[in-house]
Amino acid sequence: MDIEDLIKVDKKRNEPLYMQIYIQIKRMIEKGIIKEGSRLPTIRKLSKILDVNSVTVVNAYHKLEEKGLAYSVVGSGTYIKADGFNLEISHYEGAGLLENTYMPYGEEYINFAGLDPSYELFPVETFKDIFTEILDRDGGLAFTYQESMGYPPLRESFSRLMSGYGIDINPRNILIISGAQQGLDIISKVLLGPEDNVIVERPTYAGAVAVFKSRGAEISEVPLTEDGMDIYYLESLLKEKDIKMLYLMPEFQNPTGVCYSDKTKERILELSQEYRLFIVEDDYSSDIYYKERPSSFLHLNRPGNVIYIKSFSKVFMPGLRLAFMILPNMLIDSIQAAKYTSDISTSGFFQKAFQLFLDKGMWEKHTDMLRNVYGKRHDLMATCLNSMDDDGVTYNAPSGGLNFWISLPNGINDMQIYNAAIKEKIVVAPGSTFYMDCPEHNHLRLGISSVNEKKIRKGMKSLKKLLY
Ligand SMILES: Cc1ncc(COP(=O)(O)O)c(C=O)c1O
Repeated sequence: MDIEDLIKVDKKRNEPLYMQIYIQIKRMIEKGIIKEGSRLPTIRKLSKILDVNSVTVVNAYHKLEEKGLAYSVVGSGTYIKADGFNLEISHYEGAGLLENTYMPYGEEYINFAGLDPSYELFPVETFKDIFTEILDRDGGLAFTYQESMGYPPLRESFSRLMSGYGIDINPRNILIISGAQQGLDIISKVLLGPEDNVIVERPTYAGAVAVFKSRGAEISEVPLTEDGMDIYYLESLLKEKDIKMLYLMPEFQNPTGVCYSDKTKERILELSQEYRLFIVEDDYSSDIYYKERPSSFLHLNRPGNVIYIKSFSKVFMPGLRLAFMILPNMLIDSIQAAKYTSDISTSGFFQKAFQLFLDKGMWEKHTDMLRNVYGKRHDLMATCLNSMDDDGVTYNAPSGGLNFWISLPNGINDMQIYNAAIKEKIVVAPGSTFYMDCPEHNHLRLGISSVNEKKIRKGMKSLKKLLY
């Protein structure tokens, strides 16, 4: 069979066509199906067979060249450059995620796409003092390995933090991790294998989907209502499939900003116990509330099948790579082992620094300050969006969190706006990137955490113009 007979593209998939072609050729090289020096089909031939634009094939071939997997000879064609060692490696779905979500942003861009906190708000001076204090106190001990469950005094501080939120947790159940993303990864290592079924919200956080896919899991999406997951839909899926895990963000869901009502949470808990599945709660933003702190699954009857993950990256300093999980007793040993095989332990120095920050009462001051700053940005963004009402833009104002999820006027496509906005040096997150199947193309996620009020005014004025 010729190479061109082995390549297929699926135009309904969210993945760009050139990436689909690139990935398939790359896999053929990995498997040794295409050998060093083989000539790839001409651009004209392949674009005709696949019924795609020739630029698509050009981009796929460029990508192969950029990765050192092909070279072109002027007037002759593009040839495969294999390094003589072909070993089939698993197709890691997450790798595509990095390529697809790359968003250009520097100071000259107005970044509505990210949810990272503005770095000007980081408590840098306080951390300088804290670092010095630790070094004076511990000397070289500041840099030794930590227990893989985490630095015990920090686990106790986290337990006190949670108890301040009305959740009593034994520090024994707290595992410190290097970011919530690692938490998702190690949970998946323990709980998921090929073809295990996972339910996620529709739309959802693509970083979690990538982790589940990397384990070979099958993923089903359940649409969201204003109260959280659509319970009827969820129940019908549970009847139909043997589900292992439910991944959700009940506090200011990413990307929609939806908060789950207690009634919905209670019903989900009942169902999870009836159908025997784990609930993974990803709490990435409950600290940023403008009315009241949203409640967690852990506020309800203490269930043994809820794994809670708390990220600090959207509220604190993402580069610290610090988060924690609350584990049910039966999972402590296996998840601790998975953490150990992943990175032995999270940086002891940063754990000690965060522990002092918490114990000095700085956390409350920091989150008060953030709620104040983000609250003003939130109100300003709502005002700007209200002025787009006549243009057909709609949204549900979230009562917290770091972004707005807006619906575009009829006939306007998210990618069209994304591409037009980039030219104006504005970055938005196209809504379609938050869906797995049949993406909806009429939403944008607009973040407020990386943009000050001046940038919000300027950026939203330009976006409004793009809608005409
Ligand atoms: C919903 C959600 N969960 C988890 C993460 C990962 O967070 P961390 O930086 O703690 O790994 C992100 C980051 O964007 C996120 O948006």
